[in-house]
Amino acid sequence: MQRMIQTRQVTRSLARTIQHRSRLPVHRLYSHGARQGNPRGIASPWSFLLGAGVTGAGFTLWQFAQPKSQSEKQQSNYADRETMLKGVQAISDALGPESVTMDEEDIELHSYSEVSTSNCATRPVAVVTPKSTAEASVIARICSEYKIPMIPFAGGSSVEGNFTAPYSGLTVDFSQMNQIIAFHEDDLDVVVQPGVNWMDLNEKIKDSGLFVPMDPSPTALVGGMVATNCSGTNAARYGTMKDWVINLTVVLADGTVIKTRHRPRKTSAGYNLTGLFTGSEGTLGMITEITLKLAPVPEKQSVAFATFPTIREAVACTTKIMRQGIPIAAVELMDDVQMGVLNKNGGAGGRTWEEKPTLLFKFSGTPQSIATDIGRVERITSEGGGSAFEFARTEQEMHNLWSARKEAVWAMVAQRPEGTQIWSTDVAVPLSRLPETIDLSKKESGSLGLFSSVLGHVGDGNFHQAVMYNPNDPAQTRAVQECVRKMVHRAVEMEGTVSGEHGIGLGKKECLVEELGPDTIAVMRTLKRSLDPHCLMNPGKVFEP
Ligand SMILES: Cc1cc2nc3c(=O)[nH]c(=O)nc-3n(C[C@H](O)[C@H](O)[C@H](O)COP(=O)(O)OP(=O)(O)OC[C@H]3O[C@@H](n4cnc5c(N)ncnc54)[C@H](O)[C@@H]3O)c2cc1C
Ligand SMILES: *[C@@H]1O[C@H](CO)[C@@H](O)[C@H](O)[C@H]1NC(C)=O
Ligand SMILES: *[C@@H]1O[C@H](CO)[C@@H](O)[C@H](O)[C@H]1NC(C)=O
Ligand SMILES: *[C@@H]1O[C@H](CO)[C@@H](O)[C@H](O)[C@H]1NC(C)=O
Ligand SMILES: *[C@@H]1O[C@H](CO)[C@@H](O)[C@H](O)[C@H]1NC(C)=O
Repeated sequence: MQRMIQTRQVTRSLARTIQHRSRLPVHRLYSHGARQGNPRGIASPWSFLLGAGVTGAGFTLWQFAQPKSQSEKQQSNYADRETMLKGVQAISDALGPESVTMDEEDIELHSYSEVSTSNCATRPVAVVTPKSTAEASVIARICSEYKIPMIPFAGGSSVEGNFTAPYSGLTVDFSQMNQIIAFHEDDLDVVVQPGVNWMDLNEKIKDSGLFVPMDPSPTALVGGMVATNCSGTNAARYGTMKDWVINLTVVLADGTVIKTRHRPRKTSAGYNLTGLFTGSEGTLGMITEITLKLAPVPEKQSVAFATFPTIREAVACTTKIMRQGIPIAAVELMDDVQMGVLNKNGGAGGRTWEEKPTLLFKFSGTPQSIATDIGRVERITSEGGGSAFEFARTEQEMHNLWSARKEAVWAMVAQRPEGTQIWSTDVAVPLSRLPETIDLSKKESGSLGLFSSVLGHVGDGNFHQAVMYNPNDPAQTRAVQECVRKMVHRAVEMEGTVSGEHGIGLGKKECLVEELGPDTIAVMRTLKRSLDPHCLMNPGKVFEP
């Protein structure tokens, strides 16, 4: 009981931090938990770990990424503060004073993380809130005229795709553009503004039997989700955000409004501009309208788990399951450390767990297909050295089992010693290399004396490592930096990626160069220059201007 209260307090304080940043009502964050009973809403429990990890990642990665003389050079291309203020006045005249705030607290909420040990010193001069595409276009035109950087802002939950303003400028907050514009039930699509929250959207359209199958932070808004190409636990079955975006309306840096294409499900007409803006982290334009594909809510879902002697055997099983084409909805790996943390925290789902590498499976389909799939997965796991296979026979059991995955993060946060922070980072590698890279990452963090746990969206070769460290201890901070640097470097060596789902932002710019090489980055720069010649859109993110 004591523990539960502790967890809840920590969760609540994290919730407050996130809510603070995103200005979402706190009840929405709690409804995340309450929605456990809703099969469509099985939202990523990464939520709170990342909420905590933000601090650590922000701090240390910032050290890698701080623009140095570059930044001074760049700075001179932009308006000085006085000119920026003139631009703000022009926007206020055009859109009305209620669309602009220079309130210090508002600015902090949009650009600074209060719990962070180190923050980018510059701030935007104001926050502007457009209510339509036309207003966003006016903002861009004025910013373009005065050479003011624009930093799009949606839910504010991004981890690397960070919304800080290293060159000052204006934060463009899309949370007021929160309307569902058209719902085409028979076309299985919905047209929304960028400020629509994905959980609200799913709630509103639930009677249609359709839903948006991504599950990033419960506070994320569709605009930010497209801009980061987000995913979550459902990706094994449903892919990532890019698979669900049909077309976009985008306001370019100079105020031009474009629509990337029409609304049919397929097209082979012209370059893929929808794909270009998806995952562009606000550096190419402001997304002001999105047509999303919707998926039918599965008739039934179930959950099962199995434990394994080693991570290697667990991953081997996952590969086999995928190769046999068993359509699992999600497969999540938790290591022995993570299971231990759950137990220390009083268990999860009303039980304690074996402290061994564990796979949690989610199934969806008809009752018959699920029964078949569970049977096949059970056979493969037992042939592959797994034991303790167990599946949910009732809806309640399903929630109990899945709560191991959901509670994981909260347990880690609750069990963390005072004064420590959690640094969460993610990489993805080709499936066959996953066990090796997880083993090495665990060994390295162990040898540096750091406490770390692993959670993985193993179906995609994507894993998150959460490392605890004391930010006030320089040796530990260096150790955690080194640990992450090696993990990222190894992922690249294995033909993987430096970020499976969180994006590049400020934090992983140098890593991106390592992954793609200077020529590829040069092509990205050329694209950027052609759309945004004065580098006004979210400058300093993804790559150096
Ligand atoms: C609690 C928690 C859990 C998470 N779990 C997951 C997970 O499981 N999977 C996952 O993929 N991610 C996860 N994340 C990361 C995060 O939720 C996603 O990256 C999400 O897509 C960000 O959306 P947002 O609305 O908060 O965007 P923001 O943080 O506001 O912005 C993200 C980026 O998009 C840009 N942007 C925002 N709006 C626009 C726009 N209209 N036009 C152009 N650019 C824009 C911003 O400039 C910024 O670069 C998690 C984060 C947290 C804090
Ligand atoms: C954004 O980056 C800054 C500077 O690196 C960091 O202090 C802050 O915590 C980060 N915020 C988020 C939400 O990632
Ligand atoms: C997508 O294309 C349709 C026309 O087929 C258009 O009406 C709609 O506005 C477009 N959506 C977006 C988000 O641009
Ligand atoms: C274009 O990009 C969109 C969004 O990223 C994606 O869904 C679509 O499959 C892409 N089309 C092609 C032909 O690659
Ligand atoms: C989006 O994510 C998918 C899966 O990781 C990836 O294949 C695709 O290239 C990404 N697209 C963009 C535009 O980031």
